[in-house]
Amino acid sequence: MNTSSAGWPRHVAIIMDGNGRWAQLHGLPRTRGHEEGAESIAAVLRVCREVGIPYLTLYAFSSENWVRPRTEVHCLMGLLRRYLRSREKELHKHRTRLRAIGRLEALPPTVWRELSRVMDATAHYTERQLILALNYGARAEITDAVRAIARKVRRGELDPERIDEAVVTGHLYAPDVPDPDLLIRTSGELRLSNFLLWQASYTELYFTPVLWPDFREGEFRAALLDYRRRHRRFGGLG
Ligand code: IPE
Ligand code: IPE
Ligand code: MG
Repeated sequence: MNTSSAGWPRHVAIIMDGNGRWAQLHGLPRTRGHEEGAESIAAVLRVCREVGIPYLTLYAFSSENWVRPRTEVHCLMGLLRRYLRSREKELHKHRTRLRAIGRLEALPPTVWRELSRVMDATAHYTERQLILALNYGARAEITDAVRAIARKVRRGELDPERIDEAVVTGHLYAPDVPDPDLLIRTSGELRLSNFLLWQASYTELYFTPVLWPDFREGEFRAALLDYRRRHRRFGGLG
């Protein structure tokens, strides 16, 4: 395996955090922070296209976020629905496939319908992928994979002795997507909050105090340049 990064990441994953604090800082309701955060997504996507990063995964709603006040959950779901509708054209224009990871069946039906419609409409694009983590939890993902594997074993389709890492990976929500090379978290929090725990075992981590609505082109480019200076050893001597 290549021990040096020397290049751009193929897959960037982002924990988009700090919308609420951004709003508070500006004396605005939290909802305005989420709306402003949606603009950062456009900026990051633009850089991905320019640089040639084919996979971008965004943590948009965690399996733990349901405990927030009903009004905020409602606002986030509404924003997501509007986002899907208003950005669909752009996805087509830039030949971007939209995908989602998470327990999607638990999303409100209106969101789920819009999401699956846009995913179907863009499923044929192969150049680049935008992957939204929605009602996503890494432990839930691994649990779902274990359950699917156990079912195969019960049906006699899989010998337990043949379960290896590739088999586990093969039962995750998006098994064909390469592991993230770079994982960014904004807002100064230094934790993964149940995001991509299996896939991030050798991912380079980048934490910045910048709040997500302020994370625009310049901030993203700085993160990418930081990544390019890293030496990835994967356990070897690099
Ligand atoms: C991230 O911003 C968006 C979601 C988690 C949906 P937050 O809403 O968590 O913002 P802070 O952390 O309260 O500032
Ligand atoms: C992580 O942010 C989830 C998303 C960005 C969607 P949170 O704000 O929910 O994370 P914690 O609760 O601070 O760990
Ligand atoms: Mg937060």
